[in-house]
Amino acid sequence: MSRIFSDDQSSDPPRIDRSKVGDFFAERARRIERVGPVRAVIYQDKHADLAERRDEAEKACLLPLLLLDGSQRVLDVGCGTGRWVGSLLGQCRAYHGLDFSSDLVAYARSRYGAESTCRFSVASMDDFSLASLGEGLPFDRVLCAGVLIYLNDDELLRALSCVADALAPGGRAVFREPVAQGQRLTIKDHFSEELEQDYHAIYRTDSELRTFMAQAMGVQGCQLTDSGDVYGDQTLNNRAETRQRWLVVERAS
Ligand SMILES: C[S@@+](CC[C@H](N)C(=O)[O-])C[C@H]1O[C@@H](n2cnc3c(N)ncnc32)[C@H](O)[C@@H]1O
Repeated sequence: MSRIFSDDQSSDPPRIDRSKVGDFFAERARRIERVGPVRAVIYQDKHADLAERRDEAEKACLLPLLLLDGSQRVLDVGCGTGRWVGSLLGQCRAYHGLDFSSDLVAYARSRYGAESTCRFSVASMDDFSLASLGEGLPFDRVLCAGVLIYLNDDELLRALSCVADALAPGGRAVFREPVAQGQRLTIKDHFSEELEQDYHAIYRTDSELRTFMAQAMGVQGCQLTDSGDVYGDQTLNNRAETRQRWLVVERAS
């Protein structure tokens, strides 16, 4: 069992095993030495050039969507190696990265922990709050890049609700997600030749993601206000079944 397609309406979609997802990212942390902090989290282990071009294209697309003028407090949910820190630090008042992988957070801390406006926490995105992060104020911006595919549906609903709770009134969350082109695709216990690792992820359709966001974040006055493709250059998309999308969710003032 490795690649499973299912309908949007399926009441019992296949689940991925969180502990195996954790093992996958522990191995990604060990690979930092070999592939570097960018490919450790955006992959393409055997295509360094593609990884660098994707990193650049993603930042060029998403950074303007964050609408930063130096005064915002930013939460980077699923921050990984801290790939976004260098682009955000000079543009915001405070940065807090959270990730469930203690090994990836340890790396990010070793690199950026000395910055006075920068903090990191080990936490799962479906079980955090401002209090558990030691934060007294909500965040003006949330960035969440490539993380939701590692959550099962129940975890996703809780995670989106945690994000909405952490967002200040008038704040905005920018998500970047690989989205299934047709049906939902669940990959479990699938050996990736590219990564030479077992891979586990759930690629939801754009419409499924919108439904989850409305269901989990609507109560806090959050709504999806805009979305689009991340890569203008289609040579950066090397999979027929998925494509990288961005989605902006705003919380009412
Ligand atoms: C593909 S990487 C992206 C990292 C980072 N957002 C970036 O774009 O460079 C996915 C990240 O999500 C984290 N992650 C997966 N499941 C998570 C969860 N339940 N809570 C918090 N982080 C999680 C992984 O540890 C990993 O760092």
